[in-house]
Amino acid sequence: MKQDTPIFDPERHLAFEEPSETIMMEDIGYENVGISPVAVTYPFQLFSPEAVKIMRSEIEKPEVTANHHYASNIANAQLRGYARKHAAFTFAAWTHPMTIAIISKLAGIDLTPWGDYEIAHINLSIKTEEQAKAERTAVHSRNTSVHLDEGIDVSGSEDEKPIVGWHTDSYPFVCVLMLSDCTNMTGGETALRTADGEIIKVRGPTEGCAVVLQGRYITHQATRARGSMERITAVTSFRPRSGFVKDESVLLTVRPVSDLGELYPDYVEYRLKIMEERFRHELRKMQARRVAGERFDTRGLKAFLQESADFLTHTDRELVMEDQVQTGFIEPIDVPDVVVEPPTKRVGTE
Ligand SMILES: [Fe+2]
Repeated sequence: MKQDTPIFDPERHLAFEEPSETIMMEDIGYENVGISPVAVTYPFQLFSPEAVKIMRSEIEKPEVTANHHYASNIANAQLRGYARKHAAFTFAAWTHPMTIAIISKLAGIDLTPWGDYEIAHINLSIKTEEQAKAERTAVHSRNTSVHLDEGIDVSGSEDEKPIVGWHTDSYPFVCVLMLSDCTNMTGGETALRTADGEIIKVRGPTEGCAVVLQGRYITHQATRARGSMERITAVTSFRPRSGFVKDESVLLTVRPVSDLGELYPDYVEYRLKIMEERFRHELRKMQARRVAGERFDTRGLKAFLQESADFLTHTDRELVMEDQVQTGFIEPIDVPDVVVEPPTKRVGTE
């Protein structure tokens, strides 16, 4: 008999409280950009302390640390792709309809987890007591870490300058859940760049709390987190549930830190399902027109075929042959850095 695995119970393990505020795309000058009007939520309570404890116990399993640990040029410790096989509670928590309904409501669009592989990607940053103390006492501490919400944690030396530049995420939406006690932590905010170059900062979530961010369409970065010995976040990525909403997911930042035998099938499966759904829909539409005695819509069909061709080309481009993927090396992200940052406006940092 296997050891008892706690079963995810939404009544007991969800502890949802509405975020105090949500920043909309139009608030930051991105009207009609992306797949939803929502840019980012303020931190909100999502899971109970007990749920966080169980999630943490699942990432401490030997089979997880042994087989799912990744490091790259921009992130020295991540756990990826472990949930489906080794973390039944975590997997159930993120795939439960009530959890998905909460995230969807906050995101302003029906979402579904991007794929099994991207459920609860973990960013690990563990420091010694001395390092954490030094950070708390020294305002200008060096060699601290910067964290990006989808899992980038980099060491560097220049204090205030972010090490990983401004970027967009690979997937439409992310939900970033804090699994650490943040009592002594400062920083770790999400900074967003508005359409006219202003910087807005949203405070990071505390233990059991999360933020939802439309990261694919918003140029953002995370500020350094200082002063605590550990910072562990779980990042779950989401995509639109409907096959008729655009899906501009890419694999750029994840391909080099993934088991491609797991990541690629997740990606291809839903992309092909989208195509299947759209083809069926188009076929029925065409047949119905014919039955109704309407003229064949050549222009409409050509537009559909072109859109489908673009979709397939995009899918094909993201599937880089395994022997051409440099494990652990993430190419510089395509968004240019801001050379001179305008004054920052801080929100949600009470
Ligand atoms: Fe990000």
